[in-house]
Amino acid sequence: MQSAQRARPGTEWWRNAVIYQVYPRSFADADGDGTGDLAGVRRRLPHLAELGVDALWFTPWYRSPQADGGYDVADYRQIDPAFGTLEDAEALITEALELGIRTIVDIVPNHVSDQHAWFQEALAAAPGDPARDRFWFHDGRGPGGDEIPTNWTSSFGGNTWTRTTGPDGKPGQWYLHMFAPQQPDLNWSHPDVAAEHEAVLRFWYDRGVAGVRIDSASMLAKDPELPEVGEHHAPGAHPHFDRDEVHEVYRRWRKIADSYDEPRLLVGEVWLEDNDRFVRYLRDDEMHMAFNFDFMTRPWDAEALAESIRATFASHAAVSAPPTWVLSNHDITRPVTRYGREDSSFAFSAKRFGTPTDLALGARRARAAALLTAALPGVLYVYQGDELGLPEVEDFPEGVREDPMHFRSGGVDPGRDGCRVPLPWSADGPTFGFNDTGTSTWLPQPSGWGSFAAESQASDSDSFLSLYREAIRLRRSEPALRGEAFAWTETAPGVLAFRRGEDFTCVVNLGDALADLPAHTGALLASAPLEGGRLPADAAVWLRT
Ligand code: NOJ
Repeated sequence: MQSAQRARPGTEWWRNAVIYQVYPRSFADADGDGTGDLAGVRRRLPHLAELGVDALWFTPWYRSPQADGGYDVADYRQIDPAFGTLEDAEALITEALELGIRTIVDIVPNHVSDQHAWFQEALAAAPGDPARDRFWFHDGRGPGGDEIPTNWTSSFGGNTWTRTTGPDGKPGQWYLHMFAPQQPDLNWSHPDVAAEHEAVLRFWYDRGVAGVRIDSASMLAKDPELPEVGEHHAPGAHPHFDRDEVHEVYRRWRKIADSYDEPRLLVGEVWLEDNDRFVRYLRDDEMHMAFNFDFMTRPWDAEALAESIRATFASHAAVSAPPTWVLSNHDITRPVTRYGREDSSFAFSAKRFGTPTDLALGARRARAAALLTAALPGVLYVYQGDELGLPEVEDFPEGVREDPMHFRSGGVDPGRDGCRVPLPWSADGPTFGFNDTGTSTWLPQPSGWGSFAAESQASDSDSFLSLYREAIRLRRSEPALRGEAFAWTETAPGVLAFRRGEDFTCVVNLGDALADLPAHTGALLASAPLEGGRLPADAAVWLRT
């Protein structure tokens, strides 16, 4: 009954939705080849329905050589054969919707795979041929064109240009890639690029997907003069980042999204430190929401988190888009590990091997963080496996890592494989229920992985999974949590507390000492047992007040 209501068209279902991120390669493997697939997700839909999520966001499931975990798309209109077929995707979208769960797909507009037909055509064409204009082909500098055209830095480290070889075997032009060389950047001033992406949006919206998550959304526009990056650039005039022209793209996309009977969603992956620049992407004729990375990257510190929450509300006050709350995703060190470190903030460039970690402490804090984020007004994102309390896997055997971030750092950065390990569904068996065949998983699971199994956690009321389920259930049933009202409550230093509506208070203790609780008539949910009526360190509680 409730799920049918959630699926009712014409309502802004997303304003306080819970959106679960599926990394299909690592979710569940139905065909037993060691790689997750869409049939595996279909089989495990009951887990997601029980968890109570409103929508699934799938990282790219399209045909791809997987040079960057699918963010190198070779064909948007086909599913990667490792994951299944277009019919599987259509069946999954329908079956999920029958359970009241909508689907969001990932669109990667900044670049394509070097195996994409357009790039292959461009490579085969001569310099100056229009086929090259869909990308950023450029002559090199210096004698013989041997030097890179600009000294821009790739988001994966290293430079952003790769030289091509001509049909005569001689070195040719260079092409731009802000990520790996297998991900050539598209030229967004070319009309084909815009038209193709608009067609791709319609292709998936027509198949019933409720929205798109937009990858690297602030990076599409480049200064055609290709200047070097200077010390300072006027806002909107950086050579390759957050340029003002990019907003035109999303205005056009919004018109397409709004043209559907149930308007479709645009969700932005927008990494920007400046909140005012960030919310420009959320103006009423652009995206519906964007991931709150400011909050996600903050350390486990009361003032730091409070400041981020305040800044989020202040910047969102200017737009009608809801705030979002995100603890992690497929690019980020798992919260259980991150919060167990002395420096629990997150920065891509600061991931290092061998950082001492207290996983028990991290797990306590990740549970408290789950209650904190689930109690805030706005949209909650949950990355697969965080509901099981999975830690980052840090001790892979030699030679199994795949993430280009690791390789491009010369092996200094562990990369992002550690948060992408296939999920454990059962306590036992060679792949802990990831598949039935026992075929090894594409990234090895640690030997103790079975202790996090979803099936065992489901019947343990103290488990991570039970905490997430109950939090999401209350988010839906508590009127205060469905509204937007929010007010801070006075607390001791190191403690965060806020009221939602008339009768609900969330208290989070980030300090060292037991924290007193405000007057209340009952505790609805706690991340750890209260001690003598007080909240222990690194714990959170939801109170009826
Ligand atoms: C952001 C995605 O989340 C990440 O996984 C990917 O490597 C880059 N964009 C490039 O597409």
